[in-house]
Amino acid sequence: MVSVSRRAFLNRSMAALGAAAFRYPVWAQTNTSAPSVSARLLLGVDYYPDQTSEARWEEDAQMMAETGFTNVRIAEFAWALMEPAEGKFDFAWLRRAVQTLHKHDISVILGTPSAAPPPWLAARYPEIVEVNAQGEPLHPGGRRFTCPTNQTYRRLSLSIATAMAHAFAEVPGVIGWQIDNELTLSPSPRCYCNFCQAGFQAWLHSKYGSLDNLNRNWGTVFWSQTYTEFTQIPVPLPSGGDPNPGLALDYDRYQSYANVSFLEEQLGMLRKACPRHFVTTNNVGPPVDYIDLRDLYKNLDFAALDNYPGFFEMLLHEQAKATDVSWDFINTTVALEHDFARGIKGGKPFMIMEEQSGKAGQRTFSPQPEKGQVRLWTFQAVAHGAMGVNYFRWDTATFGTEEYWHGILNHDRSWSPAYDEIKQTVKELKALGSEVLHSQYPAETALVFDYDCDWALQIQPGHYALRYMDQITSWYGSITASHTGIDVVAPGADWTPYKVVFAPLAYVLSEAQGERIRSFVQKGGMFVSNFRLGVKTETSQIVRTPLPGPLHDVMGVTVADYVPIYSGRPAVRFSSVLSGPDAEVGIWMDVLQPSGAEVLGTYTSGAHAGQAAITMNSFGKGKAVYIGADLNAENLARVLRTLAAQAGVTQPLEVPSGVEVTVRAAGNKQWMFLLNHTPALQTVNIRRPSTDLLTGEAHNETIDLSAYAVRVLQAG
Ligand code: GAL
Repeated sequence: MVSVSRRAFLNRSMAALGAAAFRYPVWAQTNTSAPSVSARLLLGVDYYPDQTSEARWEEDAQMMAETGFTNVRIAEFAWALMEPAEGKFDFAWLRRAVQTLHKHDISVILGTPSAAPPPWLAARYPEIVEVNAQGEPLHPGGRRFTCPTNQTYRRLSLSIATAMAHAFAEVPGVIGWQIDNELTLSPSPRCYCNFCQAGFQAWLHSKYGSLDNLNRNWGTVFWSQTYTEFTQIPVPLPSGGDPNPGLALDYDRYQSYANVSFLEEQLGMLRKACPRHFVTTNNVGPPVDYIDLRDLYKNLDFAALDNYPGFFEMLLHEQAKATDVSWDFINTTVALEHDFARGIKGGKPFMIMEEQSGKAGQRTFSPQPEKGQVRLWTFQAVAHGAMGVNYFRWDTATFGTEEYWHGILNHDRSWSPAYDEIKQTVKELKALGSEVLHSQYPAETALVFDYDCDWALQIQPGHYALRYMDQITSWYGSITASHTGIDVVAPGADWTPYKVVFAPLAYVLSEAQGERIRSFVQKGGMFVSNFRLGVKTETSQIVRTPLPGPLHDVMGVTVADYVPIYSGRPAVRFSSVLSGPDAEVGIWMDVLQPSGAEVLGTYTSGAHAGQAAITMNSFGKGKAVYIGADLNAENLARVLRTLAAQAGVTQPLEVPSGVEVTVRAAGNKQWMFLLNHTPALQTVNIRRPSTDLLTGEAHNETIDLSAYAVRVLQAG
């Protein structure tokens, strides 16, 4: 299922394809959840005792201990074994598995099994199945085929999770929980069934209070859609014409809410039943975007993501049916996911719940990672703020859909080619210890990721090739090419720590958000945005003032015209501030009319020749930059880097292309991670004498990085 769903999201995302001042982390101020994981090492593996003969468990546990693993995650797909018939629970086998692992000092994260309901359940309650966006019901036989609103599915999911929680609350060795598994990650991520329709109507009732209010906010007078009862409101299934944009955006929000509230039912129960255990769930970050992960993880203890860079490469090839997939793009997307994961809880270290350890895929699969890559991917996660990593999976299944998803043991139980590397990595991470793994990630810049903009632009992109995720990825890549630490933040996050906030495609803009931007710039920050700024209200209506709506004085411009481009590409000439050769405009241009802003770029051809393309305005103590033209990666990188430098953003080091630098810090200590993503030897000039904590070697001026090598440097 995973391959199909990731393929689906890639359909949408294929087109684009110095340490800062110390600040007190937001998560340290806001984390009120009970159990502390601050000193725990989570360097483990995903294990399936349910799929393994009991005669092997002892040997497995012993081998895991010898490898150095501290923990496993188990049971997240074992519903049928734990509840063979409704209300009849059998945890004896699982208790024996936990005991065996614990005997070898392997702690256990238990997964609640709601992602894969057993056949008896689907047969008895056929109404629990999800209905896809075409209105067709899914069928049991895979996993993740259920409706998040359906009360029967929710009741039975809570019931098995509760029985597990009571059975394992006091069992030695159990340390925490993963609720469900990758919510919404399936070929049809949103449900459109009757239960969801009723849930949506109730949610709308509480959101809008009255039908008058709802009708006005959606503009339902258009196409005679005025609702006189909440029960008349449809879900956006195929009709003769696209749905109302306000309804469609609210439906995406509802589906996110439905999944969050599904998870929260299990979470509330676990907090009561297992107060000493931590609770999380696993997910993949953007470009999978059906749940607002900040809502999902709000009351969980830490974020946990799954990471499969080699599998991602294979999918890109499958999608493009081409061979020129760039590892730069893959490394950048993975780095973005890690930074997103860290930002989910305001900078709090996160966990990789599943890390690729070998060939990966279901029907088709990626090759064994190059020697060094599994270690590199692990360190990349740590370099961006991970505090723990579990490898997927211990042994390789000889049956089931994932026979080709290779683990640390091959099908014949010989060690996989990555075994030595994984063992070494675990040893190295243990040596770095919890001070490094739980340290912070200082950043002077922020990139806003706004689910509303993402969803609203999928509903009405304006240009078939305009995708929020593509813009986010290319802005992220442009900024991080200079190795500037960056946080990926919510629109409503505290922006005071940042010198620059980048917010591409800020299409939906609430009044409150407009005020936040205004105050950030007024107080001295630099705000950088681009075309389609402030076009829509929160209910997806177009603003009634000249664009960029409430921000026209902050940006110092009005938008004279907005133009999707299909042919006859115009060019932009940069002013000396942004110096560079004239550049062709991509798929979009906003034509700017300055009202106080300085012009940094001008269109040179076409109907808008001579009009402003890029502007910078001084407002209060800060600056606001409007990039009206869609720029290619090279120009965008130059422009964004120039702006960041103007704002005083520092870079830890200059490094060759393909080498990544990040910095983590705790108090006045700093660790610099150097990652060579290339198969070639790379040499980096380091600015001060440093010690590589992995080897103990001292380096003065330069440091060599062999293929896929990792260094963790500390000054001195
Ligand atoms: C993950 C999922 C696992 C397993 C793995 C390999 O996305 O959580 O259960 O399916 O991919 O496919």
